[in-house]
Amino acid sequence: MLDYINIINQRVSYHAHELTAPAPSPDDLMTILSTVTSAPDHGHLCPWHILIITPERMDNFCDQMLQHWQAHHPEEGKTGHAKRLLNYIRQAPMMILVSAKVTPNHPVCESDQVFAAAAACQNILLASHQLGYGAIWYSTDVVQDAKLKSLFGLTAADQPVGFIMLGSIVKTKQIKRPEVASFCHYW
Ligand SMILES: Cc1cc2nc3c(=O)[nH]c(=O)nc-3n(C[C@H](O)[C@H](O)[C@H](O)COP(=O)(O)O)c2cc1C
Repeated sequence: MLDYINIINQRVSYHAHELTAPAPSPDDLMTILSTVTSAPDHGHLCPWHILIITPERMDNFCDQMLQHWQAHHPEEGKTGHAKRLLNYIRQAPMMILVSAKVTPNHPVCESDQVFAAAAACQNILLASHQLGYGAIWYSTDVVQDAKLKSLFGLTAADQPVGFIMLGSIVKTKQIKRPEVASFCHYW
């Protein structure tokens, strides 16, 4: 019981530059992803869409993202913001884009469907940690437009929720966490 709590409490994020090859093996990846469907899921809609970008496809994926960004953001030529971001991200050996395949106009509200995908992200982080890999959850706010979504195999209604970077850990670390008591309130 305590081992389980300790595993959760010892998880830390490893940024893209703190990750190195090898990425999880195909078997380990499937073990990690097996936890997706154990995420809580209101209405059992299984709203998970898991896009795996394997090591050999990372450069191609980042290049396509950059091309799309440059085509739709003329200021990129001056700022080079997306180029820097994508060059940073491609340091990670592997990436998983977790999205919610949203069923619109359903009695289960869209936010609950998105939360099921968010819960899957946390399961992936915990399973990666348990298998000894490093991982981090990055925002998807720059990939919300319909054209990029279609590049990922998503419809306009679907919601990207997290880019999970995965790889081996360059140097393990520990983080001191805040005491939970200050966040707890009793009615
Ligand atoms: C929805 C979500 C989006 C996030 N996006 C980013 C991000 O874009 N860049 C970043 O540095 N951290 C991001 N984080 C935070 C990291 O995943 C990580 O939790 C944070 O760096 C703290 O590290 P820790 O998990 O070891 O406590 C995000 C976290 C969540 C839950």
